[in-house]
Amino acid sequence: MGADGGADGGAAARDGVMAAAARGRLDRLWQAGQGFLGRPLAVMGGAMTWVSERRLVSAISNGGGFGVLACGSMSPELLAAEIEATRALTDQPFGVNLISLHPKLEELIDVCAAHRVGHVVIAGGLPPKAAIRRIRAGGARAIAFAPALGVARKLVRDGIDALVIEGSEAGGHIGPVATSVLAQEILPAIREVPVFVAGGIGRGEAILSFLEMGAAGVQIGTRFVCATESIAHPRFKQAFIRASARDAMPSVQLDPRFPVIPVRALANDGTRGFLACQREVIDRFNRGELSQKEAQLEIEHYWAGALRRAVIDGDVETGSLMAGQSVGLVTKEQPTAEILGELVGQAVEALVRRDAAA
Ligand SMILES: Cc1cc2nc3c(=O)[nH]c(=O)nc-3n(C[C@H](O)[C@H](O)[C@H](O)COP(=O)(O)O)c2cc1C
Repeated sequence: MGADGGADGGAAARDGVMAAAARGRLDRLWQAGQGFLGRPLAVMGGAMTWVSERRLVSAISNGGGFGVLACGSMSPELLAAEIEATRALTDQPFGVNLISLHPKLEELIDVCAAHRVGHVVIAGGLPPKAAIRRIRAGGARAIAFAPALGVARKLVRDGIDALVIEGSEAGGHIGPVATSVLAQEILPAIREVPVFVAGGIGRGEAILSFLEMGAAGVQIGTRFVCATESIAHPRFKQAFIRASARDAMPSVQLDPRFPVIPVRALANDGTRGFLACQREVIDRFNRGELSQKEAQLEIEHYWAGALRRAVIDGDVETGSLMAGQSVGLVTKEQPTAEILGELVGQAVEALVRRDAAA
C-alpha cells in the first residue's frame, strides 16, 4: 500500500469511527422506543389495511423495525390465522392494529392475548377505557393515537402505554393538524409514556429531528407500500412511484350537513366521482327524496371496498389510493431491509455531517 493508500485508509478509519459514534448517538436518542418495542430500530411500520399483512409485517420486523398487522375488518378467526402466519415468517416481535369501531373489538383483543401479541395499537377514534384495560389485562401493551394534547393527557390517565401522534401529512384517515405542530404541542408536554411521531416521514433526517424533539421513535406507512415484500398490486405501487407529494390530497366535503371523514389519497377518477356523488345525493336530499340519514349513508357507502379494489385488484382509477405526502419520496420498489437501512443511514449521516462541521 502506497502513501496515498495509507492516507485513504486513515480517512476511511476516521469516517468509520465517526459513523459508529453517530450510530451510538442515534441509539441513545431512540433508546426509549427501542426498549418499548424490543427492537434495534424504533421504527414502527404503520398498519395499512390490506397492505400490512404477514409478508410486509414480518419483513419490517426481520429488518430490525416493528411490523404492525392491520386487522381492518377481519373476523377474529382471520386475525388469529394472520397472526400465526406472520409468526411462521418471523421470530421477532410485531404488533396488531385494531379499529376501535370494529363490532367484535373485545373478541379481537382476546385473540391478540391468546396469541401472545405483545403490542396492540388501537385506531379509529378515542379508544374506550375498557378496551385499554382489556388489552393490558391480556398482557399486551396498549398504544393509541393522540390528535391533540388534551386527548394525549386523557389517554395517559386511562392507562395507555404509548402514544402515536399522526399529522395531516399522513396517508389514510387524517386529523387537521400538521405533524410538525403536533410534535411541538405534545412532545415537550408528555413525558410519562413513549410518544411515536407519524405522518410525512420519508427520510432519516426527519426521524432524527423528531427524536431530538423528544420522540421515542417514529411510525411510517407510505414509505413501505412499495417494499418488495408488500403485496400491493403492481399498479398500486406504480401509482405511488409516479406520484409527487401534491398528488396526495385530503378528501373534500361539499356540505357541512353531511360530514366526510378526511382521508388522504392520490387523486384519481374515484376522488372526482366522490364529489359528483355528494352533489347528486345532496340534490336528492334538498328535493326531499332522501332523509338526512339515508343521504349520509349513501355518501359514506361510496368508498366501501375501494381500498381493497385498489391495493389487491389494482383498480387505480376508481379504487382508493390512500397515500401520504411522503409518496413523493417513494421512487422505486426496494426490499424492506434496504428502506430501513436507508432511513438509519440518513439519520447517521446527518449526525456525522454535524460533527464534521462542529
Ligand atoms: C394505504 C394506507 C392504509 C392505512 N390503513 C390504516 C389502518 O388500517 N389503521 C391505521 O391505524 N392507520 C392506517 N393508515 C395509516 C398508517 O398506519 C400510518 O400511520 C401512516 O401511513 C403514517 O403516515 P405516512 O403515510 O406519512 O408514513 C393507513 C395508511 C395508508 C397509506
